Amino acid sequence: MRTILYPGSFDPVTEGHMDIIRRASSLFERLIVGILHNPQKPGGAFSIMERLKLLETATSSLPNVSVEAMTGLLVDAARACKADAVLRGIRSAAETESELQMARLNHHLAGIETLFMAASPAAIHISASYVREIGRLGGSLQGLVPEAVRPEIARTLAQNK
Ligand code: PNS
Repeated sequence: MRTILYPGSFDPVTEGHMDIIRRASSLFERLIVGILHNPQKPGGAFSIMERLKLLETATSSLPNVSVEAMTGLLVDAARACKADAVLRGIRSAAETESELQMARLNHHLAGIETLFMAASPAAIHISASYVREIGRLGGSLQGLVPEAVRPEIARTLAQNK
């Protein structure tokens, strides 16, 4: 297995995403973080360009990780970037149901395999939606988002009430 695609909304990148990115980047030759649109999450606090820049900064010390903004279906994006498989992080049993459905649908559509990585216990309470809520209400984002981009994320969310 050489190239793995780690897709998501990343609105914004969190320490939960970084947990998966750090650990998976040591297992694969190349890890592509794909910023994709989730039709079930309309709107968004950060523009695609902002998400891309935040992720590029947060992953800058990982040489085999690249970040791309992608459009359309995940399976088409995976084919276009020549990914061997897709990677998703799992925080809880509750998440498993919808993740399995998505993995099976993507396999049905294009034969692409999805690999699941269990989130570290230290990261299972972190979600981008709560990061947005905490940031908008002026709470501390320390330990919830990568330190290098924390001020930028906090500033954008504070302006975005
Ligand atoms: O971080 P998220 O919001 O859980 O990521 C979900 C995402 C973006 C990976 C998913 O919504 C997706 O794959 N979007 C692209 C459109 C697509 O392929 N939909 C069919 C899924 S079976």
